[in-house]
Amino acid sequence: MSSNRIGGRLIAFAGLCFLGSLASSQCSKPVPPPPQVAAPLLGDMTPVVSVKELMADMIDPLADHIFDAVWWDVTANGTVEHRPRTDEDWEKVRIGAVTIAEGIYLLKVPRPFAPPGDLNNSVGPNAPELSPTQIKAKLDHDPVLWNAKIEALRNVALATLDAVKRKNVDALFQAGADLDRACEECHLEFWYPGNKAVVLRQRKARATFEKPQSTPSTLPKK
Ligand code: HEC
Repeated sequence: MSSNRIGGRLIAFAGLCFLGSLASSQCSKPVPPPPQVAAPLLGDMTPVVSVKELMADMIDPLADHIFDAVWWDVTANGTVEHRPRTDEDWEKVRIGAVTIAEGIYLLKVPRPFAPPGDLNNSVGPNAPELSPTQIKAKLDHDPVLWNAKIEALRNVALATLDAVKRKNVDALFQAGADLDRACEECHLEFWYPGNKAVVLRQRKARATFEKPQSTPSTLPKK
């Protein structure tokens, strides 16, 4: 899209030059507009950790900033709504969303799926997880699917950022649910595909879940 925009500008500029050159020769050396397309990377990207460790030490803990942002506690005294209230609360969600949006692209950097010698829970009959070798075979077979799952997650992170900008609690709650789904969608393809049927059944059963109405809600005092 941005290249189209640049193209449009160049054409507009050429048109101006044509008109201008009738009167003067100022436009003989058009100055190209500053490039808007991302410059090539300044260096190679090399991984530090495996996918498994990146999940455990970056993606998962930062996703909690979003998952834990809105929830309800049903107590004997009524429903207590937990939601971001202070600037600091909202900043925590934003930090989660930015880290997920940017950090998930680190899955585009080729890296091992697990640390050396770690076979995941993939040994024996009906093992719940694929081994790192099996995951790699799946990725090699369908890298487009892997990238699609990455982009889907990034889109949810962007929706989260938008909710933060608007301080919209409902949108943030929805983003949390969508995030959970986006994580699971990749895991169901690449990590524990054996669970797919069970998860889909559970999803159907949960489909009727509605968020509790917050009337009257007992808001925790800050
Ligand atoms: C593009 C694919 C993809 C997306 C998106 C993704 N994951 Fe993962 N994740 C994986 C794979 C593959 C593994 C298994 C790696 C292994 O164990 O070899 C994994 C493993 C994990 C683990 C296990 C780590 C451990 O120590 O065993 C956690 C936790 C996790 N992911 C959390 C998340 C969360 C939370 C999200 C969403 C915010 C997410 N993942 C999104 C691919 C993905």
